[in-house]
Amino acid sequence: MNTLIRLSIIVALSAIAITPGLCQVNPVATMGTLNPTSGTLPTFRLSSKYSNFEHVDQVETATERSAMHFEGGYIVDESPLVNTSGSFGVSAWVKVNKLGGFQSFVSLDGDQISAFFLQLRQDTGKFAFTVPGAPTGDGGVIASAGFTPRTGVWYWLFGVHDAAKKTISLYVNGVLQQTTNYTSAFRGTGHTAIGRGKFGGRPVDFCQADLRDVSFYDNAKLNPTELDRIATLTKSNSSTITVDATQPTHALSPMLYGLMIEDINYCIDGGLYAELIRNRVFKNSANTPVHWTSIGSGRMLLDNSNPIAGTALTTCLRLDSPGSAAASVANDGYWGIPVTPNTKYRASFYAKSSNPGRSVTASIQSNDGTEIWASASVGGLTSNWKKYTVTLTTGANASAGTGNRFVLTTNGAGSCWFNQVSLFPPTFNNRPNGTRLDLMQILGSMKPAFLRLPGGNYLEGNTIAERFNWRETIGDISQRPGHQDPWGYRSDDGFGLLEYLEWCEDLKMEPVLAVYAGYSLRGEHVAAGPKLEPFIAEALEEIEYVMGGPETIGGAKRIKNGHPKPFALRYVEIGNEDNFDRSGSYDGRFAAFYDAIKLKFPKLQLIATDKVKSRKPDMMDEHFYRTAATMAGDADHYDKYDRTGPKVFVGEWASQDIDKPWERAAEKGPTPTLNSALGDAAWMTGMERNSDIVLLSCYAPLFVNVNPGGRQWAINLIGFDALRSFASPSFYAQQMFSLYHGDEVLKSSVEGLIPLQVAVSRDKKKGTIYVKVVNMNGKPQDAEVDLKGISRMKPIGKRVVLSGTKLSDTNTIDDPKHVVPVTSTFAITGPRFKYTFPAYSASVLVIETGK
Ligand code: AHR
Repeated sequence: MNTLIRLSIIVALSAIAITPGLCQVNPVATMGTLNPTSGTLPTFRLSSKYSNFEHVDQVETATERSAMHFEGGYIVDESPLVNTSGSFGVSAWVKVNKLGGFQSFVSLDGDQISAFFLQLRQDTGKFAFTVPGAPTGDGGVIASAGFTPRTGVWYWLFGVHDAAKKTISLYVNGVLQQTTNYTSAFRGTGHTAIGRGKFGGRPVDFCQADLRDVSFYDNAKLNPTELDRIATLTKSNSSTITVDATQPTHALSPMLYGLMIEDINYCIDGGLYAELIRNRVFKNSANTPVHWTSIGSGRMLLDNSNPIAGTALTTCLRLDSPGSAAASVANDGYWGIPVTPNTKYRASFYAKSSNPGRSVTASIQSNDGTEIWASASVGGLTSNWKKYTVTLTTGANASAGTGNRFVLTTNGAGSCWFNQVSLFPPTFNNRPNGTRLDLMQILGSMKPAFLRLPGGNYLEGNTIAERFNWRETIGDISQRPGHQDPWGYRSDDGFGLLEYLEWCEDLKMEPVLAVYAGYSLRGEHVAAGPKLEPFIAEALEEIEYVMGGPETIGGAKRIKNGHPKPFALRYVEIGNEDNFDRSGSYDGRFAAFYDAIKLKFPKLQLIATDKVKSRKPDMMDEHFYRTAATMAGDADHYDKYDRTGPKVFVGEWASQDIDKPWERAAEKGPTPTLNSALGDAAWMTGMERNSDIVLLSCYAPLFVNVNPGGRQWAINLIGFDALRSFASPSFYAQQMFSLYHGDEVLKSSVEGLIPLQVAVSRDKKKGTIYVKVVNMNGKPQDAEVDLKGISRMKPIGKRVVLSGTKLSDTNTIDDPKHVVPVTSTFAITGPRFKYTFPAYSASVLVIETGK
């Protein structure tokens, strides 16, 4: 019947749990039933027939009945069942119960490392047939599946080692996934293992899976008919997406897609905050005026003995000119001063002079000083501090770029002092202390519902003294002392609480306010009790600042700062990632904040950042930084979630292709690939399907300055330098989910073994249905979309598709639109229509049912 099979060992297993430990059975030496050493062990049976394939036409049921369940246990046969330096094959039906980690289903021991692994890989999240090149593990090769498996679904894995061609191949459900060339393989002489691998001389990679029909073949001759049969029987070439439009399951949270901000990766100072001067108040270093250089005969130094009375400006720059020749100081900005033609810049600075009457010229110049793009002068300096403001306008011939500096030039001998030197390009909504136009335009294109502010770790600070102390971030910018940012640089706090709120106003986002809750990153904390009271008062006043009227202390401050209208506020988060507070103080701290806030603002919804017992939070903030494969594999995370507990705010999440994004960030990233965007999109389908409990979500971090030294976190949503910016594929995935939203979720299900991730929503009034589908497979996926309960629809639908040719496709500052959503139309033949989802794609199908 089949030339492939010479030797087959069939694990015809009853569903029993194997506990960790070595359970040996007799070697497969003779035909017949083997004798397990323990009565609880399954029976190993030899067969020369291809009988295990007979089960596949009943895959759904037969596999369940006779599988063996592994939860960290394994079984071995003492002999090597195949010669791994020759041609061989190994197959197994596998149902993974928990994704993540390396999980070996079948392997054969070498001395130090398995001679092959039929496995799920941690680094890719995909099935693989892996063959080390040598007993040391060197020179290994992998044949990988093209998709991330789902839990609870049976797959037939078949690894083939062809010693003549020097290739290894992996088939899943009869479909070839990958063939990889190798240079060497070695003969494993140890045990044949089911449920584990071997590495470093030790059993490893225990699996969390059900297995059945583990078979070994002593050659690599494929039987195409059988493979086809498996492929057909497992329906791997087609999927069915069924949508029940008769019964909406629940509302789709209108707040689901928002933004999260904290000053990381020079994303506020040096980023969204449009200020172009770096170290404008000379406090970035206590020793030297970093980012400033002196040009010409002058000498510059830091001066702490000339504070500006009534301000927080205590350190200034002194420029001494020995003679009458011009002396200048230049600032290099945040990796350059951006210049564009025909642009008005507003420069301001405090200055005074030892010789009254001197003038100062402010200019924007090329770094070598050969081009002066714009300049303007003020005269009549006195011996008292005064603020000067000038407009610098570039001409039509100014060449766009960042290789420029900002220069202050004095004439005459003597000393000049400068403080809070500032330069702003045009800002969004022309706010004088505002935001960068290009970055606001990118954000606005996603229509975010809310902004979680101001962190993240930035809220907490490394120490209590370095927390986000909102009271020191308001009022005229000269009043703000600034503080050390936990991400390694100093924040001027020119972008303070009111600026965050005005940003919300500009993009019509609702603020989600995180208040400091008495814990800082290095472990300093204030337990509940009298010492916590001032921090609770600080939070209450901050809430008033956001939403209070003139009769409140906080509200009155906001009005004084120029914003009479209160901001709408519904959600307040108490702390950030308080699971890191090993003192166990969060429960008490949360309760104290909760009681005080609820008493004064009973309508506010309060968010906890760790599990608490003393109160029931309205919402829990949950964070996920994981590989794309894990995100996609866990897209059903909330499907079976407790519906009686607090609602969920997924307050930080991101798929990333790297481990530990905070370590050696400069070497990785800076923004996600298509692979991550697809992991994100898959994850969003799960949040959307479950948006009865997942009410809010926001990706983190939001921004990265892509210059060398600009980032502390490797994978970020939007990249920029001083002049240019770009959105990552992950941003576009979110944009698609946010724009094509609807207001109710329709029940959907998917059949087919190559997993598609699906969420379906509808705009009740318009009757428009949005079918969102993610195909992480490297092949186009045929599907039938069955809209049950829909009788009429426009025959032409709109589709928005984000895809690429390879998973590593991405956008960069020099190639910003490599991966972008493409909008087109498609034909709809009726309520049950055929559709092919492209390889590596996230799609939104927009179907008008014309209600
Ligand atoms: O997003 C980067 C950091 O990750 C956040 O500051 C923190 O909350 C989380 O650990």
